[in-house]
Amino acid sequence: MSQSLATVAYLGAAILFILSLGGLSNPETSRRGNLFGMVGMALAVLATVFGPRVDAGGIAWIVGALVVGGGVGLYAAKVVKMTQMPELVALMHSLVGLAACLVGFASYVDTSIQLAGAEKAIHEVEIYVGILIGAVTFSGSLIAFGKLNGRIGGKPLLLPARHWLNLLALLVVVWFGREFLHAETVADGMLPLVVMTVIALLFGVHMVMAIGGADMPVVVSMLNSYSGWAAAATGFMLGNDLLIVTGALVGSSGAILSYIMCQAMNRNFISVIAGGFGSGAPARKGGAAAAAEPQGEVAPVSAVETAELLREAKSAIIVPGYGMAVAQAQHTVNEITRTLREKGVAVRFAIHPVAGRMPGHMNVLLAEAKVPYDIVMEMDEINEDFPETDVAIVIGANDIVNPAAQDDPESPIAGMPVLEVWKAKTSIVMKRSMASGYAGVDNPLFYKDNNRMLFGDAKKMLDEVLGALKS
Ligand code: TAP
Repeated sequence: MSQSLATVAYLGAAILFILSLGGLSNPETSRRGNLFGMVGMALAVLATVFGPRVDAGGIAWIVGALVVGGGVGLYAAKVVKMTQMPELVALMHSLVGLAACLVGFASYVDTSIQLAGAEKAIHEVEIYVGILIGAVTFSGSLIAFGKLNGRIGGKPLLLPARHWLNLLALLVVVWFGREFLHAETVADGMLPLVVMTVIALLFGVHMVMAIGGADMPVVVSMLNSYSGWAAAATGFMLGNDLLIVTGALVGSSGAILSYIMCQAMNRNFISVIAGGFGSGAPARKGGAAAAAEPQGEVAPVSAVETAELLREAKSAIIVPGYGMAVAQAQHTVNEITRTLREKGVAVRFAIHPVAGRMPGHMNVLLAEAKVPYDIVMEMDEINEDFPETDVAIVIGANDIVNPAAQDDPESPIAGMPVLEVWKAKTSIVMKRSMASGYAGVDNPLFYKDNNRMLFGDAKKMLDEVLGALKS
């Protein structure tokens, strides 16, 4: 393939990636967005493999790597459960970081790259910065993977003087960067490069370990952004324009998403990027144990009684959470919605920005179950409507409906906006036990006078509710 044809293909792929991001901004166009992304990626891979920079000998290696990597990816995509998607995404981010590190070291020791003067300096800055971002992304994403699948606890690790440790790490990285740029030979430059890599790896671990359970959504989208910048850095090192453009697209869209997440969680963007630096939130000091424990008794309700309450309601709001994903109850939820609407009940859904374990988690599940988009509302669109609602039904959600976020300044989730289900005439919480949610915080909602608890697996309970509604 000639250089000009490869450039045209790259341009086409870049446009498709932009259209893909545009499509993903709305559930109705997201399928098309995904399709654009897939076609763009196929075009990019083909133009690279058969482009002018790969010789015949190299193609065999690349095809071999594609078969192995593609095989692993296909297997992972087939076996991963919907609830494990966030972990898989975190693992993928770590691979982008690892790739940036490996490409950085490879291009530093590559003797075929003969540069001098400013060009050499620029190339070395690209290598240093690329490995730095890649190493932070790699280790940070691995810790996020551990936290998301529960192998690492959600409690933040707050080392004494951690801000000073971060600052010291930054200064050491800058100093070794200077040493690296002044190194005469590759052997001389290797030591500062390795030291910086180790520090960056440790910083990535420290940054994510310092984040509490409820702030994980911000970290997930932030690591998504970092992986984009790592890919862009790889593009600079390899002189690949498409990788630079694609990395910048992922990096900047991830940064915007992180900012939106921060607003949704009422957190300071800069604090989170710096690993909780200067957050000053009471949550970080007191932890879950310092928060007031809810008191009183809970009022259980049966599936039949729940069906009765729903049947008599004029309006109902359904709040789905992580438990709905675990129970795979979305199809039954859709059936119940349809049945209630046929009976004249105005049913809508309230989606909290961090419900579940990944951005848009609930929207994906509801779309899969074919719930009409026009009754699925964002938190800000619907939160004021709870006082005029007869029944609010919470399906496997916990942290996102916890009134302690508003009422208890000592709570680890203090300040986080929540769905005010307790303002409905009756709220019903569907979960298996009194266990806390991801943030590990008790929920006073369960003890409110107008709240009922429907204990059991969400799918099983909803099947019973549906049966009762239809009988
Ligand atoms: P959670 O607070 O995690 O609560 C989910 C509840 O579902 C649990 O209390 C659990 O109680 C219940 N549950 C689990 N399996 C169930 C089943 N089979 N049937 C019925 N109930 C079941 O979820 P949420 O309210 O959606 O809030 C999300 C949390 O995750 C927030 O703290 C958020 O910060 C965090 N987080 C979000 C993201 C993103 S990007 N969305 C990423 C990482 C972390 P039982 O065990 O008693 O059943």
